[in-house]
Formats: sequence, structure tokens, C-alpha cells
Amino acid sequence: MRAQIALLPGDGIGVEVVAEAEKLLQAVAKKFGHEFSFVRGLIGGCAIDATGEALPDETLSICRASQAILLGAVGGPKWDNPSAKTRPEAGLLKIRKELGLFANVRPIKASPYLVQASPLKTEIVAGVDILFFRELTGGLYFGESGRKTNPDGSETAFNTMIYSTHEIERIVRLAGQAARGRRKKVTSVDKANVLEVSRLWRQTFDRVMQAEFPDVQTEHVLIDAMAMHLISKPKNFDVVVTENLFGDILTDEGSMLPGSMGLLPSASLGADGPGLYEPIHGSAPDIAGKGIANPLATILAAAMLLRHSLHLETEAVAIEKAVDHVLSRGHRTADIAGGGPAVSTVRMGELVLEAFLAV
Ligand code: NAI
Ligand code: MG
Repeated sequence: MRAQIALLPGDGIGVEVVAEAEKLLQAVAKKFGHEFSFVRGLIGGCAIDATGEALPDETLSICRASQAILLGAVGGPKWDNPSAKTRPEAGLLKIRKELGLFANVRPIKASPYLVQASPLKTEIVAGVDILFFRELTGGLYFGESGRKTNPDGSETAFNTMIYSTHEIERIVRLAGQAARGRRKKVTSVDKANVLEVSRLWRQTFDRVMQAEFPDVQTEHVLIDAMAMHLISKPKNFDVVVTENLFGDILTDEGSMLPGSMGLLPSASLGADGPGLYEPIHGSAPDIAGKGIANPLATILAAAMLLRHSLHLETEAVAIEKAVDHVLSRGHRTADIAGGGPAVSTVRMGELVLEAFLAV
């Protein structure tokens, strides 16, 4: 197949980890006979330095003309000045909004070779394989908000949680479709005992699932109970779908199951148009430029890109197997080495590449 892939390395270790993922994508093209072209764009601090904007129009055009986008990370102390006109993170919010990326997809999978990296007990973590769908463009983050001064001088502020059936339906559908390729179970998380918006969420979820995914098992769990179940019995969950704020909190909590941020990829998807793939970590200014960042999250994000945007499942699995193989042989970057011997970013990339070419 032919595809154009936009590469937006961004700032800090984003540059280092995207370079390794690009090598893997090039190897996928060669091994499986695809024609991938890569186009680079600026986003974040480097874009502000070059153009004054965190997401220049040129980058947006490159993204729109591509089938998929691989992003590193943005930000760093250099751009943290509170009086600055724009911040690197503005580029992230704008690209999500402009491309209509309403679903954030995060796999939380505990590698059998790294269970000791988790702060949780091995018997709880081993075998965990959850796919989160967090709604990304609605809820409290985007509802009407405000602040006012009361007559006594104190202040009142508010945010509103708003969802329409349309917004709920489209993310529930993505979750249902994903469950079909997995263990066929979707857990919807809400607060329907208290919130009206959750009652609409629950009704809409039930209607869509019964009508369109009768073969998929469903359940409802309240957000407070879910916070507990996620660390007490995480193996009970397959696909989890929830609104923006609940998903933000649960996915960070879930990232502790596998143990290290340097391992976790994510995707942001829309109805049509390109999907955006990135590691969940940031630009890690404390280690940027040292060549020690873990590139595996970004390499696994590239595998998600192949799966979700290019529909190349075999190729995606081949990358994931190569990563597993490298971990099974005991190779570690510093963040997961537990003080033991560690390899560099580039060496980790090479090891995955070698394993990929060998299978
Ligand atoms: P961070 O994720 O960049 O780093 C947190 C800690 O994890 C650091 O000690 C870092 O060295 C380590 N770490 C992260 N990724 C790693 C990797 N691949 N390999 C080894 N170690 C890794 O979060 P932090 O420090 O809160 O933010 C740094 C900058 O990144 C800020 O400017 C922040 O705004 C930005 N950021 C950007 C994100 C994005 O582009 N999506 C997401 C989160 C933060
Ligand atoms: Mg968060």
C-alpha cells in the first residue's frame, strides 16, 4: 500500500524517540512491500521558535494531506515563561480540535517480561490487557465555564459537563468495534447515580451496543468503583469507554499497571481523516539530548498507527512481537533497568529492528 505519514518530532526527547520509530516504519515498508513517504512538520516549542506559532498552518496542511501522524512530544522549560504569547501545548490542543480527534485510545498492557516494573503485585498485574477509549473533545473541558465575584467579595467558578447523544454514540461505536477484535467485552464508566449527563451516556451506550454489537458483552461501572477495581482486579477489563475527565484520570492510574511511561503509546482518532499517534510521556527535559530515552512507547505508537490508520494488522503485530522479544532477552533502557545495565535510545531502536527483521 501507499501512504503518507506526517512526522512531528516536537521538542526534547520527542526528536530522539521519533527517529527510532521512523526506522521501524521504513523497515515495515521494505519488508512488506509498502510505499510509505514521510513528511516532517514543526509543532510545539521548536515551531514557536521558527514561526511564532505552536502549530503553524504548514504543519496542519501536511497533517491533513497524510493518512496518519506520528508525534513525539512538545514543551520544555525554555517555553515555560508565563508571559509568553503562546505555549507549546497549545499546538496539541489545536491539532486535536482541527482534525476532530474525538477518541483517545490507550492500550494498557503489562509485558510479561516487565511485571516487576509495576508498583503493584505481580499476580495482579501479570496478564493485564485493557484498551481505554477516552472521549477527548467534550465534557467538562469544553463545556461552558466562568467565574464571578460574589457581593461579599468571595468568588464562584463553574465548569459544565455537556454531552450530546451524537458525541456519545460515535465513541461507543469505536469501542464496540475494537472489542470485536479482542475479548468482546466493553465496560462503560460513568456516575449515573448522580449525574444527568451520565444517565444519557448510559442510555446511549445501551442503545448502541444492543442494536449494533449484540455479540459484545457489556457492563456499567461507576467511576469511583472503577478507580478501585482498576488496581484490585484489572484483568476483569477488556475495552473500557468513558468521558473526558474520567478517562484522563483512569488512564493515568492505569499507566501504573505496566509500570513505566516510557512503554505506553496512545492514539487520537476521529471519524475520518488522519489519526494521531504518540507516546503518552512528555519531552522529558531532564534527559533530553543524553541519548537515554526509552523509544519503545513511540515504536509501539507506530504499531498502533499501522493497525488503526493503515489497517496493517500483521505489520503492527510484527512490531509488537519484536518489542516483546527484545524485553524477553533482558534489554533495558535506564528508565526500566532498575539500576541494572542499560542500553541507549539508538541501541534499543536497533535491537527492535533486528528482532523485527528476524521474525
Ligand atoms: P515527562 O513525561 O516529559 O517526564 C516525566 C518523567 O519521566 C521524567 O523524569 C522523564 O525523564 C521520564 N520519562 C518520560 N518519558 C521517558 C522515556 N521515553 N524514557 C525515559 N524516561 C522518560 O513529563 P514532565 O516532566 O511532566 O513534562 C516535561 C515537558 O513535557 C513539559 O513541558 C510538559 O508540558 C510536556 N509534556 C508534553 C506532553 C505531550 O507532548 N503530549 C505530555 C506530557 C508532558
Ligand atoms: Mg493526563
